[in-house]
Amino acid sequence: MKTKVYYLDEKNINTKALDEAAAVIRQGGTVIFPTETVYGLGANALDEKSVSRIFEAKGRPSDNPLIVHISNYDMLLYCIGEPLSEKAQKLIAYFWPGPLTIIFKKSKGIPKEVTAGLDTVAIRMPDDEIALSLIKKSGVPIAAPSANISGKPSPTAPEHVIMDMVNRVDVILCTSNTRVGVESTVIDISGETPLVLRPGGVTLEELREVLGEVEVDESIEEPGITPKSPGMKYIHYAPKAPMAIIRGGEIKVREKILELSKKEKDKGLKVGVLTVDENKESYGDYEVISIGSKEDSNQAAHNLFDALREFDKLMVDVIYAEAISENYLGLAVMNRMKKAAGFNIIEV
Ligand code: TXA
Ligand code: MG
Repeated sequence: MKTKVYYLDEKNINTKALDEAAAVIRQGGTVIFPTETVYGLGANALDEKSVSRIFEAKGRPSDNPLIVHISNYDMLLYCIGEPLSEKAQKLIAYFWPGPLTIIFKKSKGIPKEVTAGLDTVAIRMPDDEIALSLIKKSGVPIAAPSANISGKPSPTAPEHVIMDMVNRVDVILCTSNTRVGVESTVIDISGETPLVLRPGGVTLEELREVLGEVEVDESIEEPGITPKSPGMKYIHYAPKAPMAIIRGGEIKVREKILELSKKEKDKGLKVGVLTVDENKESYGDYEVISIGSKEDSNQAAHNLFDALREFDKLMVDVIYAEAISENYLGLAVMNRMKKAAGFNIIEV
């Protein structure tokens, strides 16, 4: 398959490329497009054959359901098989368009390939002009997972998408790096207490402000428990090198990383350290990448996936990462870091 790649200027969107991409979606093809979270790999969500091409392109297990992206409320009503609850209306009013995915009962219009056989469907309205225009011009909701090869970090920059996906999809629409940098928050509001199935771009603090009590699915922290969100069970976001997270008091964390790194270096191995701006001078002997100031979880979210891919480019043999605080976007960042590390956490 030959991929057509277009670079779009957000301030002056090339409508020709968008028209072509929308026609590709209507004809059953695949299009990679930017969203505010990460790049998505989209196809017509109402057509099972189109959807199967997504799984093929990503090498994704077909028991992992997809998020359906919409551009207006008619599309939402077409996709769901229940009246809009009060909680749903509130969430939509506060957070759409934006990085929040809501689980609904699915309508008959959504093929089972999209939902991996579940009777629920995950829906979001992205906060990105290119994504919204593409959906609008296509005239159909677009099913789209993150546009990475299954298991790799999600793509947040055009070069990530090009690296993974050229000649696996029909069209790639590139623009600048994505704003948020981690995927959307997935929330289930079907029970008494709303449950976050995947932490992401909308924070737990923001959700609690709007809904009151909100819990986090505990299985996302405990690798032994089967998560309610099927996608959370796979190894994910993994850089090529094994990674360990060091968590504890700041001084002890630094000492531990220096101790472990020296051991590996003495064996002749190349060590990567994932840290924050405030600490990056401490690890001079190693390949150091900072995800931004420790005071700013937005920066950490924006930079994490690129940092993980950078370590691949540097061809390090092992990565030690400082844990960051789990407030605000830190919850999503630490969730992705834990998965990248296969839950290998060293407490000090
Ligand atoms: O920010 C995002 O959400 C990006 C952009 C492209 O929109 N998309 C994304 O999709 O991250 P993906 O496929 O990589 O992750 C979808 C997550 C998975 O954890 C999946 O299991 C969960 O949503 N999910 C989808 N449908 C579900 C359902 N019916 N019930 C529970 N979880 C569901
Ligand atoms: Mg993904």
